[in-house]
Amino acid sequence: MGSGYQVTEFAHKFIEEQVKHGDICIDATAGNGNDTEFLCRLVGTTGRVYAFDIQKEALEHTASRLRENGLEERATLLLCGHEYLKETIEKERKKQEKQGGKEEISCVVFNFGYLPGGDHTLGTKAKTSVCAIEQGLKLLKKGGMMSLCIYSGGDTGFEERDTILEYVRTLDSRKYLVICSSWYNRENHPPIPVQIYKL
Ligand SMILES: C[S@@+](CC[C@H](N)C(=O)[O-])C[C@H]1O[C@@H](n2cnc3c(N)ncnc32)[C@H](O)[C@@H]1O
Repeated sequence: MGSGYQVTEFAHKFIEEQVKHGDICIDATAGNGNDTEFLCRLVGTTGRVYAFDIQKEALEHTASRLRENGLEERATLLLCGHEYLKETIEKERKKQEKQGGKEEISCVVFNFGYLPGGDHTLGTKAKTSVCAIEQGLKLLKKGGMMSLCIYSGGDTGFEERDTILEYVRTLDSRKYLVICSSWYNRENHPPIPVQIYKL
C-alpha cells in the first residue's frame, strides 16, 4: 500500500467481501465504468448490475469498457438520475419477471462527484444524492451493503459532503450499521469512504 492509496480501492475491499455470484447490485454513478465493471465480475453470469448515470457520455464509456471485457450481458445501463432509483429498479425487475425489486439488492455503490475528464458542473448534488441514498437503503436486502465515496473541496465544494454525512448519522442504529473512515493525516479535504450495512 502506498501514499497514493485510493478511496475506491478501499471501497472495493468491502464490496468484494459483500458481493457473491448471482447477486443483484446497483452502481448509482456509473461514470467511466470502473465500479460497474468490478460489480459485473463479482456477480458472475447469474447476477445483474443496474448502472445509472445522467450523462450519455458516461454510459458510452461504461458500455465500451464492459464490451471490451466481455461483461456487457451482466449489466443494464440506465440513462437516468439516481433520484429515480427505486421506481426505475422496480420497473426493470418487473420487466425481467423477477421479484419486483423489493429488498433484494445486495450492494449499492455511489462514487459521488463529477465524471473524470468531463463537465465538472454535471456532478452529483447534495439533495438528489441524499434522495438516492434513502431509496437505495429501502431496496437493500437485510445484510446488504451500501458503499459511498464522498469528495469535497475544489469544484465540488462542501455542501454535498456535509449533507450526506449529516443524513447517514441520523440512520437508526438498530436498523443500520454506518462506518465512516478517514484519511486522517492527509491534507486538502481527502475523500471519505462510508459503508452502510442493513441489519
Ligand atoms: C465520480 S463519477 C463516477 C465514477 C464511476 N463510478 C467510475 O467507476 O468511473 C460521478 C458520476 O455521477 C454522475 N451523476 C451526476 N449526477 C447524477 C445523478 N443524479 N444520477 C446518476 N448519476 C449522476 C456523473 O455524470 C458522473 O459520471
